[in-house]
Amino acid sequence: MKRQFLVTISLIFVTQFVFAADALQLLDTRQVVKVPAAVRAHFLAGMRQHLVEIADIQAALANGEFERAAQIAQQHLGLSAPGSAACRMPSMAGNPSDAQHFPSISGALSASSDIAPYMPKAMHDVGVSMHHAADRFAAVSRAAASTSDYPVTLRALSKVTEGCVACHAQFRVVEQ
Ligand code: HEC
Repeated sequence: MKRQFLVTISLIFVTQFVFAADALQLLDTRQVVKVPAAVRAHFLAGMRQHLVEIADIQAALANGEFERAAQIAQQHLGLSAPGSAACRMPSMAGNPSDAQHFPSISGALSASSDIAPYMPKAMHDVGVSMHHAADRFAAVSRAAASTSDYPVTLRALSKVTEGCVACHAQFRVVEQ
């Protein structure tokens, strides 16, 4: 009797778990971007690096190092940063065959691990605006070196992280 009861309870738990997982799957309305495994690994490594850069910017600001925060943003998150190469090119709207038309831009396509040819236009656009926001933040933070204007600087930084959030809400990258 006790055993039956335990089995029933366990079954209820298991079913709830399965349903919860299904519900989560249904709630996930993000657009799927399919890319080769090497492209995904390279892209996610770049993303983790972005988080490091945001953390470094915050640490610099906490120390009152506005110029250093500006440099990190410009060199690593701005539109001219090496890691922004995929977003500097025109969007190829997820059509890899178009990639051959842009062979000379920053050598970005020399790496077979580049995500550019797979990025849908909407994703590309969010990326570009995040990089622009990073450049704007750099200018604001640089100007704040003499004023120590934290509200204005942090507002500019939040425009950058809003870009991260906007893209994460819309897209996920899975292996082809
Ligand atoms: C143009 C779109 C886009 C922008 C902008 C963007 N990300 Fe991402 N990021 C993604 C996608 C897509 C994933 C993978 C999500 C998934 O597949 O579930 C991701 C994953 C990540 C991950 C997880 C990496 C891993 O190893 O799983 C981190 C951390 C991250 N992003 C940080 C950031 C930060 C910080 C910013 C802003 C400075 C940022 N991202 C901006 C699209 C973007």
